[in-house]
Amino acid sequence: MDDIIATDRFVVRPFTIEDIEWVFEVSQDPAVQQFVQVPSPYLMEHARYFVEQLAIAQRESGERAEFVVEDAATGERLARVGLGLRGDGTAEVGYWTAPAARGRGVAPEAVRAVCRWGFDVRGLELIEWRAEVGNHASRRVAQKAGFLMEGQLRKRLVHRGQRVDAWIGSLVS
Ligand SMILES: CC(C)(COP(=O)(O)OP(=O)(O)OC[C@H]1O[C@@H](n2cnc3c(N)ncnc32)[C@H](O)[C@@H]1OP(=O)(O)O)[C@@H](O)C(=O)NCCC(=O)NCCS
Repeated sequence: MDDIIATDRFVVRPFTIEDIEWVFEVSQDPAVQQFVQVPSPYLMEHARYFVEQLAIAQRESGERAEFVVEDAATGERLARVGLGLRGDGTAEVGYWTAPAARGRGVAPEAVRAVCRWGFDVRGLELIEWRAEVGNHASRRVAQKAGFLMEGQLRKRLVHRGQRVDAWIGSLVS
């Protein structure tokens, strides 16, 4: 099955509706609320929409490839990594790690694996990373996953209903 990725420590797999409650819980986290474009307050219906419409339906339509990162030994859900597939050989990566799993290098290992999958299985040529200026943890993840930092864009993201400046970087196959 080419949609399940094994890394040294993790199993990286597509979403199922069993993941809705977990997405709801993690999305309450203040850092997710601050740095990811999510509704606030984040309700169960938002988690249901994300999993059913974005993670599952848009995987089938080829517009997105969202993954859950699980501990290979315990099956515990640790993180989410997604690629927004633009249909032109490029994609944008997005990710978060559950608060209890942060600081253990989960996101870099998983982002590297999902990007490699994007290049090898989906034939991507370039993957872009954007984060709000000041999101140093996300910048570290992108750097550790091999992204080249390219600069800063004015007012290029909308977070908490406000336009904010963004850092941008890219990874090429
Ligand atoms: C950014 C994020 C995905 C990092 O995931 P992670 O699996 O903890 O990744 P790492 O363990 O490599 O840590 C990355 C950086 O987070 C910081 N960090 C370390 N421990 C941390 C902790 N317990 N809690 C928060 N941040 C921590 C460090 O700056 C670290 O960089 P370093 O290893 O060079 O010191 C995670 O902090 C997160 O989910 N943040 C909120 C959502 C978000 O910002 N997503 C990205 C949007 S562009």
